[in-house]
Amino acid sequence: MPIHLKQLLTPDELAQARALLQAGDAPWIDGRRSAGEQALRQKNNLQLAQDSPAATALRALVLAAVQRDALLFSAALPKKIFNPLFNRYGDQANHYGAHVDGAVLHSRATQQWVRTDVSCTVFLSAPDEYDGGELVVQDTWGEQAIKLPAGDAVLYPGTSVHEVRPVTRGTRLASFFWIESMVRGSEQRRLLFDMDMALLALRQRHGESEEATRLAGTYHNLLRLWADT
Ligand code: NI
Repeated sequence: MPIHLKQLLTPDELAQARALLQAGDAPWIDGRRSAGEQALRQKNNLQLAQDSPAATALRALVLAAVQRDALLFSAALPKKIFNPLFNRYGDQANHYGAHVDGAVLHSRATQQWVRTDVSCTVFLSAPDEYDGGELVVQDTWGEQAIKLPAGDAVLYPGTSVHEVRPVTRGTRLASFFWIESMVRGSEQRRLLFDMDMALLALRQRHGESEEATRLAGTYHNLLRLWADT
């Protein structure tokens, strides 16, 4: 199931990111230059050149937000993060047909291989700025069309077939990246996330209790059993 992260970026960060991406000299290049063979036929968008100063500043901004977001940490249990990338859909370069992402990708910025356990898209345009452009994710639970407020993000399984529907009006700006998780199996990751959320709610409702402490111990012992650091 996709997990919605509300306001991953602060309004200030969002404004900064948008200003960099909307600058007249932002170095947009054909997204097909970074697509694998299978994705090549499906991909038609623009991507920000990775070696530009704008991309360096934007990567740092998104990574800082990612690193402070407790919900993202609980859901993805990150071990490695593929450097955030940025794309733009609109006009003639307006969609990315159904595809699966490569299972392991090489990050040019960090010179490391990252297994794509979890995918993340950060929406940088407001829904009323464009028509179409839904991120459609298909998985065992069915199909979901996702279009979120600017500054919000979604986590979805790296194993899923997904697409970005054609943008028929306006411009859709987004950041996207992948996470290699400390917990490789999606079922284990989901169990840990559900348990963590239930514990949080339990403590909010009843405060600290001996039972909550024991359950927290079980959570950490399962994490110890499954995590690979
Ligand atoms: Ni993809």
